[in-house]
Amino acid sequence: MAASSFHRALGGGEDARTELVLLVLSSVVVALASSASAIDERNLTAGFVQVELTESNFKVQRPYDVPENQRYSYDNVTGVRTFLVYAGDKPFNTVTGTLPRTEVRLAGHDYSSGVWQFEGYGYVPTGTSGASVMQIHNEQGAAHATVLMLHVYNGTLRYYSGEAVEDRIYDRWFRLNVVHDVAASTVAVYVDGRRKFGASVIPSDSYYFKFGVYMQHHDVSPLMESRWRNITVYTKSTTSSATTCRRSWSSRWLLASLLLVITLAISI
Ligand SMILES: *[C@@H]1O[C@H](CO)[C@@H](O)[C@H](O)[C@H]1NC(C)=O
Ligand SMILES: *[C@@H]1O[C@H](CO)[C@@H](O)[C@H](O)[C@H]1NC(C)=O
Ligand SMILES: *[C@@H]1O[C@H](CO)[C@@H](O)[C@H](O)[C@H]1NC(C)=O
Ligand SMILES: *[C@@H]1O[C@H](CO)[C@@H](O)[C@H](O)[C@H]1NC(C)=O
Repeated sequence: MAASSFHRALGGGEDARTELVLLVLSSVVVALASSASAIDERNLTAGFVQVELTESNFKVQRPYDVPENQRYSYDNVTGVRTFLVYAGDKPFNTVTGTLPRTEVRLAGHDYSSGVWQFEGYGYVPTGTSGASVMQIHNEQGAAHATVLMLHVYNGTLRYYSGEAVEDRIYDRWFRLNVVHDVAASTVAVYVDGRRKFGASVIPSDSYYFKFGVYMQHHDVSPLMESRWRNITVYTKSTTSSATTCRRSWSSRWLLASLLLVITLAISI
């Protein structure tokens, strides 16, 4: 009964069936494409192993012609790292022509397989614009420099200068988790524990994390600043993630089959 009124609503007969088939196909596509991440949203680091970091892993890059303490400070009581860079600053060395930056390059944990997760609490004061605050950088000489950059423009955190990851980013501490599944070539961004962004990326040979302030190409403020604390890096092997992936794939197939059965039932 419900089925026949549904048919009437759609115009009945073969047209309705065709529409239903299209509807099912698109539902299946959506169900398959929606990325069920291999991350436990209740605890983003569950199943990961924490990587040991000491101060020697935090390599500071800053404009080459100014002392480090004029652009970077680490408060060993609060654990807060503060990064400043001016739009007119020099690059971080005399051979690169890159834009000014004051950043930490996390050294000693470059990776080329597995699933890697960066966690940190970030703070961007009002006014900072046109700066990258976090990156996943590729190896030197790679065809592309990065697989992920998080830029701040006018109070919004964006994936490069594209999709918004988080609005109203200014003047508050936010927890940032960035997950890079190397085998799957995907990145995902979580803000305050919630998934805000995901993308497929072009693979490279190896990767490392950076954070701080790195001037970009538009909407740049005269001074750029970010602060960071509780930086942690986690990893897990691809094997465990592949298992989770298989599970999530099978649940997606289950969902797709369920949709198919329901639609067949309706259309009969
Ligand atoms: C989340 O998982 C990690 C890694 O298994 C564990 O060390 C941590 O205690 C967990 N956190 C909470 C709040 O359960
Ligand atoms: C913190 O930094 C101050 C100033 O650089 C230094 O004198 C002090 O020993 C440091 N404390 C610790 C616990 O590292
Ligand atoms: C910046 O954001 C404010 C408030 O959200 C808005 O009024 C303004 O037009 C934005 N400016 C630019 C350059 O996007
Ligand atoms: C951040 O790190 C400090 C030590 O630097 C620690 O006392 C504090 O519990 C950490 N906070 C969180 C939320 O991880």
